Amino acid sequence: MKTRIEQLPKAELHIHIEGALEPELMFKLAQRNHKKLPFDSVEAAKQAYEFKDLKSFLDIYYQGANVLWREEDFYDLTWHYLQKAKKQNICHTEIFFDPQTHTNRGIPFEVIITGISEALKVARERLNISSHLILCFLRDLTIESAFETLKTATKYGDKIIAFGLDSAEKNNPPSKFKEVFDKVRAEGFLTVAHAGEEGTSDYIWQAINLLKVSRIDHGVRCIDDPNLVKFLADKQIPLTVCPLSNVKLKVFNSLGEHNLKTLLNQGLCITINSDDPAYFGGYLNENFIAITEALNLTKAELKKLVNNSFQASFLSQQEKENLFIQ
Ligand code: HPA
Ligand code: ZN
Repeated sequence: MKTRIEQLPKAELHIHIEGALEPELMFKLAQRNHKKLPFDSVEAAKQAYEFKDLKSFLDIYYQGANVLWREEDFYDLTWHYLQKAKKQNICHTEIFFDPQTHTNRGIPFEVIITGISEALKVARERLNISSHLILCFLRDLTIESAFETLKTATKYGDKIIAFGLDSAEKNNPPSKFKEVFDKVRAEGFLTVAHAGEEGTSDYIWQAINLLKVSRIDHGVRCIDDPNLVKFLADKQIPLTVCPLSNVKLKVFNSLGEHNLKTLLNQGLCITINSDDPAYFGGYLNENFIAITEALNLTKAELKKLVNNSFQASFLSQQEKENLFIQ
């Protein structure tokens, strides 16, 4: 029997498609593309998924992404996630992709975006899952590389709704990317940014004031600045929070210590998300179930979290109205 939370329709707003690469598919693609993996077996890969921080995770995540070469690889990866999303009653998803991880290995941008977009199109038609695509710049690379990526991406602008910022946060503040985000917005795209996962609350202010983001990805370190908490609540700038990720990457020592219930009850627009489900031990429903248990979330809090997922999305107001639950 499915629990109420499993049955509820919901949106996911923080999922890296490269982070949905399950070890089984990783091995299949490695074989198909004649690439060697640093693991001997699926089991060995799973056992290596113990991380001490964001950086130690990213090292493994980028190694995994090395098996993706052809359009069909990006299609298969995306399609695998979308089938899982269907089973979890995700009716709308906003997916991050990291093109620089692939273009830096010589893979054309077109191969990446065509493979992903084709799977999204089939999911719209066959699974009734709506979606948007968000391109993330890697913040540990240069702003010049981000500008070059934007230039190429603009040719496929109809497939992209927003631009974001991910990868190693420490010492790579949002301010480093101000000028490229100015151009992103001038070209009509929305913006989001990972901030306040490992970085300080000041990085969240920078994302708001310099990058003019519509949402903050993670953002849990806002708790260190009461003025920021008040601002996020007043302006209803959503946080896309990822509970299992936060414990796996030692942002919190345990789910019981997570601050999302505190922030929710201070009036912030908090949403629940999976981040990199193949690496962090669960998809969206597993995140909902684990955090509900750990923090004793009430029925009313769960309803709020689900409706926040629609409210914080880039759907139109009418599309949101059609999805809100009573
Ligand atoms: N943080 C930053 N970059 C990422 C993450 C994350 O949680 N997942 C994939 N890239
Ligand atoms: Zn993320």
